[in-house]
Amino acid sequence: MMPSECTIVEIPKIAGENRLLTAALEATANAVVITNRLGEIEWVNPAFTELTGYAADEVLGKRIAILKSGRHSAEFYRNLWQTILSGNVWSGEIVNRRKDGRLYTERMTITPVHHGAAEITHFIAIKQDKTACIKTDQALRESERRYQALMETADDGIVSADHNGRIVAWNKGAERIFGYSKEEVLARPVDLLIPPHLRKRYRKRFEQFITGNSERRVGRALEVVGKGKDGTEVPLDISLASWESGEGRFYTAIVRDITYRKMVEEGLRDAHREIESLLASISSILIGVDGQHRITRWNKAAVETFGIQARKVLGRLFTRIPVTWNWEIIQTHLDRCRQGCAPVRIDEIRYTRPDGKERFLTLTINPVRTSGEQHEGFLLLGTDITEKKIIESQLSQAQKLEAIGQLAAGIAHEINTPIQYIGDNTRFLQDAFSDFQSLVEGCKQVPAEKLAEQFHRLCRERDVDYLLKEVPQAISQTLEGVERVARIVRAMKEFSHPGFDEKKPTDINKALENTVVVARNEWKYYAELVTDFDPDLPPVPCLPGEINQVFLNLIVNAAHAVADVVGRDESHKGRITVKTRRKGDFVEIQISDTGTGIPKEVRQKVFDPFFTTKEVGKGTGQGLAIARSVVVDKHGGSITFETETGKGTTFVVLLPLNSNEMD
Ligand SMILES: Nc1ncnc2c1ncn2[C@@H]1O[C@H](COP(=O)(O)OP(=O)(O)O)[C@@H](O)[C@H]1O
Ligand SMILES: [Mg+2]
Repeated sequence: MMPSECTIVEIPKIAGENRLLTAALEATANAVVITNRLGEIEWVNPAFTELTGYAADEVLGKRIAILKSGRHSAEFYRNLWQTILSGNVWSGEIVNRRKDGRLYTERMTITPVHHGAAEITHFIAIKQDKTACIKTDQALRESERRYQALMETADDGIVSADHNGRIVAWNKGAERIFGYSKEEVLARPVDLLIPPHLRKRYRKRFEQFITGNSERRVGRALEVVGKGKDGTEVPLDISLASWESGEGRFYTAIVRDITYRKMVEEGLRDAHREIESLLASISSILIGVDGQHRITRWNKAAVETFGIQARKVLGRLFTRIPVTWNWEIIQTHLDRCRQGCAPVRIDEIRYTRPDGKERFLTLTINPVRTSGEQHEGFLLLGTDITEKKIIESQLSQAQKLEAIGQLAAGIAHEINTPIQYIGDNTRFLQDAFSDFQSLVEGCKQVPAEKLAEQFHRLCRERDVDYLLKEVPQAISQTLEGVERVARIVRAMKEFSHPGFDEKKPTDINKALENTVVVARNEWKYYAELVTDFDPDLPPVPCLPGEINQVFLNLIVNAAHAVADVVGRDESHKGRITVKTRRKGDFVEIQISDTGTGIPKEVRQKVFDPFFTTKEVGKGTGQGLAIARSVVVDKHGGSITFETETGKGTTFVVLLPLNSNEMD
């Protein structure tokens, strides 16, 4: 307020006359104090009381100096008084003391009041508390600093734009992401940060965001592509916010570079795709079961094998799927897998196809723990082994026939020898019979008194004494021959008995005996064969046909090994020993020979299919492979050997007496 503008001349008088004016002064929010030219207070309004803590009657007549804080120099007050006493308005900030002693800052304007033209009679001071303003200011500055610090230290980019889309704020994070410095982007359009081909689309998206209910979008990030200073495109996550100020509407985006996240996501997706295609392409049956026992995976091979579409089983309880197989076995193995936290294998399980055909599977159950799942899930991998089984059995059948073929010549020979002396003896018996016949005939017509003489003569002629001695021998030899032939035939018959599907208790000693007989021609020229059977051997549950095959293969191998050592020198025969013993829950069969032994470099390979060191026609390399498959896979036993080059070899077969392990 300029002094010239001052129209109030005699305040008390006017105040008295004009209540309206007084009321206005009283109601004003600014503190008003009127002093005389000595500085004595003559009038204050309620805002003064509020500001200083002094009630009107406490200060009236007192000097205005009671408000002094002591914060200002004498010079300061001198200057103030000089200004107003010379008729000028003083305006400035001053620190005063309230009645309660607290200091406060006020903005004050003092206007001198002229009486008449020249004399100054009063001063009107109008005061405004600055403390609150300063505090707000400080708080604002503080908040601003915090905001700046936040902006600068944030990893994320923070970009603000005005309603024209011009950039007004830009932090270090944004600089890192886009490559522009603050100076380079301020006041430039945000389009700068968007690849040209996407600008239109993004503008629409942002507009939607802006016109839409932004409240709902707070905190929701948009995935976009940004453009850096060097032109590269950067995948970004942005969250947008808009705010209004005196200067209009502004938009702030918090921008996060998600290149790495994208890369990881992409990598994960690739890996996932790869695994999916791998799983789809494997020919094995694959069934995924989650912790709740629900099917999560049912691949193509499963569809084809069981004839059940994936959509019919996915999400259903595993134990409810319409597959006909022994659920008890499956359940036991699932339990075992869960308890042991390790894969469990079912070597062979029978199942029925939708067309009613019975087939076989090998099944591996693997425990799978998915993160977040409380219970273990499973991955079942299955292979249909029906074809393999058929081929295997055909192979072993073929080998058996082959072995029999090889044995046939020997067996023919074996039978030929007894047949020959059966023939010789029978012919002798025939002659002997005709001698006896002629004796009887020669005695028939003779009168009684000459009978004795005739009989004795004929007996002498026909050498009856000799016949009486030889015929019983010829008969028993013939019977023995017949018995031998019968034995060979019986052994052959038993040996080559077509295999049973089921195991049955078998007398292993008997089986070995038969095999020894059948193979006799293979060994008899080179070796003597000694048997050492445990007479108390319990019957072993096994597939007799296949076990015979194993014994034959071992005995023939032993014979070959011995033959290689002794040649055809019958005076220095080798020896083959066949021994049986009970060993706890197993029966042990040992077949030892005094043959060549197995050279070191060959030991690893003897059980390999088609591995042979023998010339064509003598060996096919299947003998031990089949022996192992029969003993180990089909009977749960073991087959091993001990050997010493030049001394001989012992093959040891162990067969379990309890075959519960096997189905
Ligand atoms: N008792 C043995 N003594 C020495 N070598 C043996 C004996 N048994 C097997 N072998 C060796 O193991 C190989 C493989 O045997 P096998 O599988 O029966 O096939 P094959 O008899 O047709 O050769 C034989 O070729 C031989 O070298
Ligand atoms: Mg062999």
